[in-house]
Amino acid sequence: MIAPNSIEQLLNVAAVEEVVGDYVSLKKAGSRYKGLCPFHDEKTPSFVVSPTIGIYKCFGCQKGGNSINFLMEMENMSYVEAAKTLAKKYGIELIETGKADTDEYKASQKLRENIQVVLEFAHQFFTENLYESEEGKTVGLSYFKERGFTNTTMEKWGLGYSPGAWDALTKKAVEQGYTLENLELAGLIRKKEDGGYFDLFRNRVIFPIYGVAGKIIAFAGRKMTSTDNAPKYVNSPETELYKKSDILYGVYHAKNAIKAKSKVYLTEGYTDVITLNQNGIENVVASSGTALTIGQIRLIRRFTHDITVVYDGDKAGIKASLRGINLLLAEDLNVRVVPLPEGEDPDSYCQKLGSEGFQEYLDKNEENFIFFKARLLLEGLENDPIRKTEAVRDILDSLAEIRDPLKRNALNTELARICGMDEALLATELQKLVKGKSVHTGKDILEELKQITEAAGVDMPTEPFTDENQERAFLRLILLYGDKKFDEEKGIFEFAMQELANDSLIQFNDPICSLLVSELMANIEAGFPGQSFFTGHPVPEVVSWAAGVLSTVHELSKAYEENYIHVTHEDDNYKQDLVGIFVHLRRKKLDSLIRETIEGLKKEGVDIDEVFLKLEYLNDVQKRIAAELGNAVFTIN
Ligand code: UTP
Ligand code: MN
Repeated sequence: MIAPNSIEQLLNVAAVEEVVGDYVSLKKAGSRYKGLCPFHDEKTPSFVVSPTIGIYKCFGCQKGGNSINFLMEMENMSYVEAAKTLAKKYGIELIETGKADTDEYKASQKLRENIQVVLEFAHQFFTENLYESEEGKTVGLSYFKERGFTNTTMEKWGLGYSPGAWDALTKKAVEQGYTLENLELAGLIRKKEDGGYFDLFRNRVIFPIYGVAGKIIAFAGRKMTSTDNAPKYVNSPETELYKKSDILYGVYHAKNAIKAKSKVYLTEGYTDVITLNQNGIENVVASSGTALTIGQIRLIRRFTHDITVVYDGDKAGIKASLRGINLLLAEDLNVRVVPLPEGEDPDSYCQKLGSEGFQEYLDKNEENFIFFKARLLLEGLENDPIRKTEAVRDILDSLAEIRDPLKRNALNTELARICGMDEALLATELQKLVKGKSVHTGKDILEELKQITEAAGVDMPTEPFTDENQERAFLRLILLYGDKKFDEEKGIFEFAMQELANDSLIQFNDPICSLLVSELMANIEAGFPGQSFFTGHPVPEVVSWAAGVLSTVHELSKAYEENYIHVTHEDDNYKQDLVGIFVHLRRKKLDSLIRETIEGLKKEGVDIDEVFLKLEYLNDVQKRIAAELGNAVFTIN
């Protein structure tokens, strides 16, 4: 890791307006600079650089950060790469500290370097074999030619060939001084029972898998004979460099096109990516035939929010395209689908239609995922109201994943039209599903935040969300005033439960409180269960607590007074108290989350987009709380 003061020094010297100025033409506007955002297409400048605080921010696409972040984004570099590049340019010596000094870190760095070197060697071996060996030329090269790949394409994608012998690579590598250990760690060879080794890739054409920065991190090999029942593709195992779930095939070659078009086509196969690319459609990646992972989705989201899934037109392909899509929706991506005719995959169909024809087909047949799903599920159910209702619910469930309420409602209107059902009715159902998910989504966000802060080496606060006194104080109010009116429409109990149902940030940690709250929440519909719910509760601790509260109604505990709110406690202050507790619980949680998130921004290895996205979300929540509760926000603390 680079020492923080070293980074600070670097940021002081590598002025943001200069670093950005290398890529964007900036015009001075007061104390700031303005320009056209390099990260999305725009005609009027919404990209602002502030030299005084050393950051850039686009008010169109919301991207922002400091000089290092800018380089990371522009050049798809890691934090360290970007920092080192800047340091070199500005003649600053970066001091490494902490983690970088530990033996463990050094060992892992060394291991990664070793693997990289071995992979480069193997790549050279595979390409030499393809172009220069008799076997490679007759088997591999002719195969690629038959598939329509040009020489330029084969070079661009680093294609190769692995000979049929059991140990061709092993032999050559050892001859050249590479160790068996490193070959094995790179996932290129396997140990035999007798202690010898054999090559993983044999008699296969080779597709290197490139990391985001353009280095080879793994290989895939396609078999040459359709007769044996070996798997069609053999892929490198996970290694120190290759984490399957965090990479998409083609991302390095596609990233600039994805940014420029602000859109990505997601296919399944290696050959789909290559063929489309050869036909001028360069914003394509492949999931390599497995369901999408969160890591892959985040990778895409660094470049665009618009993703179009182009999958095989057979049943399996369609199923695959349904799988994992709720995940995309929940990650706030705009998902569209292009179904292909039965029996075709993007590769075959693109070859059939030619580049223009295929692009036209994509444009014409692209459909919002929700509508695609609706058509698929509703097909043939016109006269089966029960199954139709089930299908509609399934679609609403996808819809409910979308965070933006405007987007959600617009799609709901369209859905109502498609399935010929009452829009208002669907909207009500949708709302219920959204509420059900809000807890889940909030938890996910906390989970993500945790991961981000952990990855950044910042500890999440280990203290519980709320301190026990406030949880008890909350239940105390329910116990004492649950049957009172909150406003014209609802009672205290209803208000409190609805607030909890809609708020994913609040969790109860005190076991008694959490038990009581979940019991109460489970029976929201029945209304306030009365004080006897507490005084007659099967758990003795609840009873004794309730008895204590009821016998000291007019006596405030000192902890209560000190801990959460500074208002006098007369009987009818309970409304304000309740609101106060909610505000306090939420703000406390939010404040610490926001603080932690901002803290996380400063650390290396953090996905800046990710953090900004969270910050925006948290700020949104904060604003919403403020708007909902009005002045209450300002009366606390
Ligand atoms: P496909 O079977 O659709 O292959 O698998 P393909 O990409 O169209 O290949 P060709 O056109 O027959 O040569 C889609 C993807 O699933 C993964 C690969 O990433 C493949 O590109 N896959 C498939 C495997 O990893 N292993 C396999 O055995 C099969
Ligand atoms: Mn194919």
